[in-house]
Amino acid sequence: MRTVILNPDKNGIEEAAKLLKKGGVVAIPTETVYGLAADALNKEAVKNIFRAKGRPSDNPLIIHTYSLEAAKALVKRIPDKAKKLADKFWPGPLTMIMEKSDMVPKETSAGLDSIAIRVPACQTALDLMRSSELFLAAPSANISGKPSPTSAEHVINDMYGKVDGILKGEDCKVGIESTIISLLDDKVTLLRPGRITVEQLQEEVGAVIIDKAVEFKPDSTEKVLSPGMKYKHYSPDAKVILVKADKDKYINFVNSLKNGDEKVLSLCYEEEKEHINVNKLILGKSNDYEQMSKNLFAMLRKADDLKASTVYVHSPLAKGVGLALYNRLIRAAGFEVIDLEE
Ligand code: TXA
Ligand code: MG
Repeated sequence: MRTVILNPDKNGIEEAAKLLKKGGVVAIPTETVYGLAADALNKEAVKNIFRAKGRPSDNPLIIHTYSLEAAKALVKRIPDKAKKLADKFWPGPLTMIMEKSDMVPKETSAGLDSIAIRVPACQTALDLMRSSELFLAAPSANISGKPSPTSAEHVINDMYGKVDGILKGEDCKVGIESTIISLLDDKVTLLRPGRITVEQLQEEVGAVIIDKAVEFKPDSTEKVLSPGMKYKHYSPDAKVILVKADKDKYINFVNSLKNGDEKVLSLCYEEEKEHINVNKLILGKSNDYEQMSKNLFAMLRKADDLKASTVYVHSPLAKGVGLALYNRLIRAAGFEVIDLEE
């Protein structure tokens, strides 16, 4: 299939809008990760997203729009807590799940009665949605199961020839996907952590329940609140193993690994790099969660470029934005952890 590459200027945005109005699929930049967008109210267009990504059809999509006001048409009602959070965090990396209106086709919500909505903080995406007057359903623009794309180059690698267009933009400022909360029972439940932290949410609305699947492997017999949580995810071709340890223990551990026919790679912190004797990539300074978020998916992709067979990642602490990094890494690792902490 022919894929047009578009610049994020007036012409490019007009072209992207035309393709989307015809039911096409166009990859677009957002502040979190690139998204694979189509008209959220057009079933056939939405099916094309699932096809391009190879995504299971029971995994619902997020609908993107430009304001809380515009979002009203998509839901039965906007809970007060959602209004408060939208005032504070939209446009921004927060997705809220509410009861869906009949306007939204079941293909978009994967048969659920709820719908996930977000207003992205990215001028190109906002301009596109305003000028096209479309609601855009968009999952991350990676091949299903792979690390999310945080640059136009990542999208071109994954999606060229599979979609109608790719709207090029800057590298994503946040680098990890949005924080997802459910507001279905008037409680606030965190389903996926992101740059907006539990602490920030609590400051606005009080209690936040953290769904078990955020940190722990879902039990195959349990109902998973967010269908995406049951899949192995964010994984490069290389095997990922998460190592929980303090600095010295992590360094000793990776240095003791034999670099025989196995191509071992350490994904470590800036402060550790000079002490590590195996191949390494740097996630960022150990206390700079924003930088680490920005680097994470690019580093997992780089591990494949380097043809690594196993990546030993120094696990971040599962606190604040670290919870989001931990959530992505534990899935990339298929829940395989080496715990060197007492
Ligand atoms: O930052 C982001 O959220 C990016 C950008 C493009 O906006 N999008 C993104 O979409 O990460 P995706 O499809 O890769 O992840 C959305 C997650 C999936 O795990 C899906 O199962 C969950 O949201 N989800 C969507 N609708 C839901 C619903 N109604 N109830 C529960 N989970 C839902
Ligand atoms: Mg995704």
